[in-house]
Amino acid sequence: MEIFVNATEIERQKSIAESLRSRFAAEGAEKRVFARTYGCQQNEADTEKMLGLAALCGYKKVETPEAADLIIVNTCAIREHAEKRTFSCTGAYKKLKEQNPSLIILFCGCMAQERGVAEKIKRSYPYIDAVVGTDSNHRLPQIINDVLCTRKRSYHVNDLPHAEFGVIAEDIPSLRASGYKAWVSVMYGCNNYCTYCIVPYVRGRERSRRYEDVVAEVGGLVEKGYKDITLLGQNVNSYSGGVSFAKLLEKCASFGGEYRLRFMTSHPKDASAELMDVMAAYPNICSHFHLPVQSGSDRVLADMNRRYTRESYLQKVAYLREKIPGVTLTSDIICGFPGETEADFEQTLSLIRQVRFDMLYTFIYSPRPGTSAAMRADQIPYEEKLRRFEQLSQTQLQITIEQNERHVGKTLRVLSEGEGAARTEGGTLVSLDSTPPAGIFADAVITAAHPANLEGKLI
Ligand code: 5AD
Ligand code: SF4
Repeated sequence: MEIFVNATEIERQKSIAESLRSRFAAEGAEKRVFARTYGCQQNEADTEKMLGLAALCGYKKVETPEAADLIIVNTCAIREHAEKRTFSCTGAYKKLKEQNPSLIILFCGCMAQERGVAEKIKRSYPYIDAVVGTDSNHRLPQIINDVLCTRKRSYHVNDLPHAEFGVIAEDIPSLRASGYKAWVSVMYGCNNYCTYCIVPYVRGRERSRRYEDVVAEVGGLVEKGYKDITLLGQNVNSYSGGVSFAKLLEKCASFGGEYRLRFMTSHPKDASAELMDVMAAYPNICSHFHLPVQSGSDRVLADMNRRYTRESYLQKVAYLREKIPGVTLTSDIICGFPGETEADFEQTLSLIRQVRFDMLYTFIYSPRPGTSAAMRADQIPYEEKLRRFEQLSQTQLQITIEQNERHVGKTLRVLSEGEGAARTEGGTLVSLDSTPPAGIFADAVITAAHPANLEGKLI
C-alpha cells in the first residue's frame, strides 16, 4: 500500500468540504464542531487537522459539546484507564443525541483502530455515527457528508496487518489551538514493538514525512510568528524522510527570529550523539530532553524489548549533560511490568536517584490487548503495582523539588502563556507576578521553587 495519500484524493475531500459549506450556507445553517482529545500530543495534532477539515466544511469550533452539531472524540489506547474514561465520557453524549437527533458523533483516534472496539461500538453505542481509524482522518469531509446523506453508521477501520497499514496525508489545514505554540508531526507509527505497548498495533507501520514538507511547515509557522514549535513522532530518532532527525532538527532551527524548537519522543536506543551535538549548537533548540527509560533493571528492559541497558542509558545521559550543562531531563517509567521483582523495582528507584530527573511521568503497567506482555502469566497484582507507583512518585517528588530549587536566584528566559503563567526552555511552569500577553518572551528572576512550578518576577 502506498504511504502518501495522493493529491487528487486530498483535492476530492476538499471539494466535498466546499460543497458541504455551500449547502449549509444556502440553508442558512450555522454549524458547530466540538472536539474532545485524549492522550498524547500526536492526538492533539491530529485533532487540529480534523478541526481544520471540519472548518473547511463550514463548522465553527465551540468549547462545549452541548453547543455542537458535530462531536469529534479523539481517543487514546495507551492504558486501560484512559479507555474507561473515554467510554464513560462518550456515554454522556447519548443524551445530547436524544435531544438533537441530527447531531453527528465521530469516534476517532487510537481506540478506533483497536481490536474489538468497533464491534463494541456497533453493539453498545448506537448513537455514534462513525468509527474513524487514524488512517481515515483525511476523509472527514466524505464521512460527514455520508452521515448527512444516508444517516447510516459507518466503520473506517483498517483491516490490513498492522505492520502494513499507515498513510501520510499532506496539505491538510490545521486549525491550531494556539497562536504561538504548534505541533508538527514528522513521522507516524512505530516499529519498535516494546512488549507492553499498543501503539504499533493501532498506529501502524513507521513512516516519515518528507524532509521538504516538514521544513516548509516549520518555516511557515516561524514566519507566522509561532514561538514554540514541537516536532512530533512516536520515535523521532528513527525519522527517515531523506535526512537524519538531527539534520532535520538543525534545519528547522535555522530560521531567523526568536522561537523555540522542541521534539518528542526519543527512544534511548536511537538517541544519537549527532542529535545531542545539534541541540548543543543551536540555542533555540530547547535544552530539554525527554528520554523515556521505562525501568532501571536490565532484566526488565530486556523483557520490554527496549534494546538498551541501564549502563548504555546512563552513558547517553552523561554525554548529554556534558554537552548541554543544566539540560532539563525528563522520563517515563512503568511500574509493575509482568515479572518485575522487588529487586528490579529497587533498580528503578536507584536509577532515578542516580540520574535525578527534573520530572518523571510514572505509569502503572496496564495490560493491552494484542501485546505480548499482556499474555504473560506473571502479572503483578494491582495493589502491588500501586504500592510501587506511590513509592516511585514519592521518591521523585523530593528529587523534583531539589531540581527545581537549582533555578532559584537565576534569571531565565520564559515564554508567556498569559494569565500569570510562563514556561522555561525546559518546559517548567513559572508563576509570575505579572505577565506579558501569551506568546511573548521575557526574562524572569526565579524567586521560589515548588514541586510543580517555579515562582518568578519579571525583569
Ligand atoms: N502500561 C503503562 N504505561 C504504558 N506506556 C505505554 N504503554 C503502557 C502500558 N501498557 C507508557 C510508557 C510510554 C508512555 C507514553 O506511556 O511509559 O513511554
Ligand atoms: Fe510504544 Fe515502544 Fe513504539 Fe514508544 S517506542 S510507541 S513505547 S512501541
